[in-house]
Amino acid sequence: ERIKELIVRLEKEHSLSETEYAELITGRDEESAALLARKAAEKQKVVFGDAVYTRGLIEISSICKNNCLYCGIRRDNPKAERYRLTPEEILSCADEGYELGFRTFVLQGGEDPAFTDAVLCGIVRALKQRHPDCAVTLSLGERSSESYQALYDAGADRYLLRHETADAGHYAKLHPKEMSFENRMRCLRDLKEIGYQVGCGFMVGSPFQTPETLAKDLKFIETFRPAMCGIGPFIPHRNTPFRNEPTGTLELTLFLLSVIRLILPEVLLPATTALGTIHPRGREMGIQAGANVVMPNLSPVGVRKKYELYDNKICTGEESAQCRGCLEARMRSVGYHLAVDRGDAPGWTKK
Ligand code: SAM
Ligand code: FES
Repeated sequence: ERIKELIVRLEKEHSLSETEYAELITGRDEESAALLARKAAEKQKVVFGDAVYTRGLIEISSICKNNCLYCGIRRDNPKAERYRLTPEEILSCADEGYELGFRTFVLQGGEDPAFTDAVLCGIVRALKQRHPDCAVTLSLGERSSESYQALYDAGADRYLLRHETADAGHYAKLHPKEMSFENRMRCLRDLKEIGYQVGCGFMVGSPFQTPETLAKDLKFIETFRPAMCGIGPFIPHRNTPFRNEPTGTLELTLFLLSVIRLILPEVLLPATTALGTIHPRGREMGIQAGANVVMPNLSPVGVRKKYELYDNKICTGEESAQCRGCLEARMRSVGYHLAVDRGDAPGWTKK
């Protein structure tokens, strides 16, 4: 009853206290999760109808100077296969994606020092020149405010930088000392201030996560009001310090997708590849729980296995067209369709 009351209030007020968020997470059961998912799907229908937005993901580099404890491409994994796409390769992935109906390209990669502002600005400009009706999203980690500004001026529209956890102590357990929670938050603030549609987010079931740290994540999302929010299960990678940690659950990921949809009805919320990796119908279930975005892989097939953040990643053998077709069929199977649209955050215009 108490949980039901919290859900009804969340739906109406889009807000709970941190303690109440923790209570909601701790007290959830099958019945309350179903109620929450129903309300989240309702909201999603009102804002986005039957459309699911797609973004073509181009994994531009597996080289990373960072050493995040959870990540398969961390600097200290000598077994990781490293690659870097050339600007020409990146542009040709985007050309192929355009033909397939993608109108947003996400350039994601490790923090690879070779991607200087000059190199990246050149790529962003070329992309926008070839495909002026497309949005460019970057997901390249922490950079300076000047760098973010230069990339925005070159034409980038959105930036994804998961906050990973809103609890500073928890952050320190997931990252080496050289990284800081403060800088992560500085980056997110800068990006928003510059005018990007900003995405934050976190892994569900990351080591040391508790209902209390999750409650902080939800309060952070509520107050920061990101345009996008990327959440997916933590999946261990065999060559990282967290190799023996348990995988995040489908059930909690779906529950949190629904909570976030009720906090921010207009947020762009992907059903992630990680969710599709832990369950064959994970992405479909994510959409039914309130997600409204999918991000199929557009990277050249030859590098897909090398961008290995976690074990058993799906879609590494498929061609881009197969991936798009596969997702189209998956979305149709639950009553949605893929939109050929940039899929901007409602009400957003570039400065
Ligand atoms: N380097 C950029 C950054 O840090 O934002 C972009 C790439 S980074 C690999 C993208 C996201 O992958 C991270 O924000 C993290 O949440 C997620 N990730 C990394 N390792 C993971 C794992 N083992 N399981 C699930 N997600 C993981
Ligand atoms: Fe990539 Fe199904 S989405 S193969």
